[in-house]
Amino acid sequence: MKKTIKDLELNNKKVILRVDFNVPISNGKIMDMKRIDAALPTIKYILDKNASIILLSHLGRVKTEEDKKDKSLNLVAQKLAELLPNNKVIFIKSTKGADVQKAAKNLKNGEILVLENTRFEDLNDKAESKNSVELARFWASLGDVFINDAFATAHRAHASTVGIAQNIKDSALGFLMQVEVEQLSKLLTGFKRPFVAIIGGAKVSDKLKVLEKLFEVADKVLIGGGMAYTFKKAMGKEIGTSLFEPDRVNDVKKYLDKYKDKIVLPIDNAISKEFANNKAIFTTPENDNIPEGYMGLDVGPETVKLFSKEIAKAKTIFWNGPLGVTEFSEYEKGTKAVAIAIAANKEAFSVVGGGDSVTAINKLGYQDKFSFISTGGGASIEFIQNGTLPGIEAIQNKK
Ligand code: 3PG
Repeated sequence: MKKTIKDLELNNKKVILRVDFNVPISNGKIMDMKRIDAALPTIKYILDKNASIILLSHLGRVKTEEDKKDKSLNLVAQKLAELLPNNKVIFIKSTKGADVQKAAKNLKNGEILVLENTRFEDLNDKAESKNSVELARFWASLGDVFINDAFATAHRAHASTVGIAQNIKDSALGFLMQVEVEQLSKLLTGFKRPFVAIIGGAKVSDKLKVLEKLFEVADKVLIGGGMAYTFKKAMGKEIGTSLFEPDRVNDVKKYLDKYKDKIVLPIDNAISKEFANNKAIFTTPENDNIPEGYMGLDVGPETVKLFSKEIAKAKTIFWNGPLGVTEFSEYEKGTKAVAIAIAANKEAFSVVGGGDSVTAINKLGYQDKFSFISTGGGASIEFIQNGTLPGIEAIQNKK
């Protein structure tokens, strides 16, 4: 058992807190507050314990100096200050160095020091992403204890997640981590059947491991999105110019053989000549071959009916990944319909993970209609695959 936040003595301590504030930002505005709101219980608990916080997060991926321009955590720090009007929130433009040490040293109980985006350190030999010991030790030296509440990044063994935990005396999981682990674990043992999983997204290769796990544990696995076309191709169907991964056909053939009673594939498709928001044309269940020169961009209405029927029978549901190209209004219908079908099944324990599925839910205003919406995309599927994550494993065990 891993230590949790309540196992730590926090009074008068400087707490290094890793959160995932990798939030979507557009035109200088935070478009989705969920990850920030979800970390507030941990932040408030620490501050209430008469402690201070040195807060770390990444924001996006930083590969060039240019990338730094719109990936500063400054905006997020300002938002945090608005949410915590009784606490001083200090933002420092650096990730490392004497000024960071000084600001951490001067921090008083009840105050938060937000460091700049941890991935700015990736311009320094990928120090953050490669878990540089030197960087991890520097961050660990800033405080007394480490709390990891960054569930959505817990599948990354980075310096600010795993590295700090490995280089500090005391560490624990925050409240958000605990909730995510508790809820997602319900999909691994003790769940009610039928268990229906809906998996979408562009590539089979991104989801091979989670698919294997779900083929084992679930009763039905409904497959949509770009990855469905590799399945169709493996079945000998014509897929036109749809997304397709030739080097995955053998894996997919094996699955189709071994799990034929569990795999449910689209029976019709919304197709287009180009990758554009053109008016959709539909194939039919009688002929769901995609003609030459066309690509599948979404599931069709008959698939929606078929998937909705399976979803209605489920007692446990897990959904990850869009069923079509959701940035095009003409091809977001399958994804929306799945959200509606899951929401309509009020008996089932339903869990959703992953950016595009959650965006579809938000657009419909359905946030309250699911049992649990994970803050993690990649992290939630890796948790289901392995039952744990590197960021969790690095935390100290309870005595
Ligand atoms: C996410 O949004 O999935 C997490 O913040 C992790 O981001 P990453 O995929 O860039 O590591």
